[in-house]
Amino acid sequence: MLIGKPSDIPSSEITSKSAYREFLNRRRFLKAAAITGASMLGADRLAEVLEPRTRADAAVTKLKTVYSPLTTTGEQLTSYQDITTYNNFYEFGVDKDQPAKNSGALPTRPWSVKVEGLVAKPRTFDIEDLLKLRPLEDRTYRHRCVEAWSMVIPWVGYSLSEFIKQCQPLSSANYVQFLSYYNHGVEPWATRETDIRWPYSEGLRMDEAMNELALLTFGLYGETLPNQDGAPVRIVLPWKYGFKSAKSLVTIRFVKKMPHTTWNDESSFEYGFYANVNPNVPHPRWSQEYERRIGLPFYEQRRKTLMFNGYTDQVAYLYKGMDLRKNF
Ligand code: MTE
Repeated sequence: MLIGKPSDIPSSEITSKSAYREFLNRRRFLKAAAITGASMLGADRLAEVLEPRTRADAAVTKLKTVYSPLTTTGEQLTSYQDITTYNNFYEFGVDKDQPAKNSGALPTRPWSVKVEGLVAKPRTFDIEDLLKLRPLEDRTYRHRCVEAWSMVIPWVGYSLSEFIKQCQPLSSANYVQFLSYYNHGVEPWATRETDIRWPYSEGLRMDEAMNELALLTFGLYGETLPNQDGAPVRIVLPWKYGFKSAKSLVTIRFVKKMPHTTWNDESSFEYGFYANVNPNVPHPRWSQEYERRIGLPFYEQRRKTLMFNGYTDQVAYLYKGMDLRKNF
């Protein structure tokens, strides 16, 4: 799927997603029909073959969006299918296909986000109010996982800074912590498959959080987020490795000291607090020089990883004076 220059087209007008979906549906159907014989498929199985999208994203709805000048790449978009079936969301299992299969029961309505800690007045935002706080922008960003795969995703949201201004943090707040939803009943895979200390926790220094690229994200491809991508609200930080972008947020806490973060807790020498994309600092177990762009033909997947994932002009000032060989 190649969508000209995404910056020119609001995602609400992008039709290629459904065209691509139709194409996939038909291809899968024909393949299955050839093997099994369509007439022999039961109703459930037939629906599954015709509808490769998961039950978890069945509830997505269209969002009204506006163009954002912060759309930063004209690269080919990763398909909706890949963005929503190749995920990291360990609360729903550690394999890439599990979040799409297992996150159907995530209760995304009603939903609220609690703001606490060093703020003028702690308060709770209802998701419907958050959706109306600012115009929702289409922003296409590169998305680089620490595991050396990448995508190009047309997100929908507005700058986290706009939300932070509403929270009125005190001057003593040096960091902001993000906590994800956690409920053992809904997410039994979290403890069955990992030793992680839940809920998922991430954090940013305040000036990083105020950078306009940091996106409070409600959707992708012009629709609400499917559960497996962090519904109903997550953060997206395109210059950092993907694990910094916590999903399904329920608490945002303003704090004085650097908060603990999930992957740093798990393995501090592998996953730092800053976790800026940096091709010059290898992960202890693999190089970060190259990445694999998901969804492209095999021979086109490999590409050089860019410093700050290509966002140096927008974010380098944040790290002046820091040793970039160490701030991993
Ligand atoms: N947030 C929560 N709550 N749980 C997770 O396991 N995984 C992180 C991040 N946010 C994760 C999370 C990692 S490792 C990555 S790479 C991105 O989400 C993946 O986002 P995606 O599945 O939408 O591509």
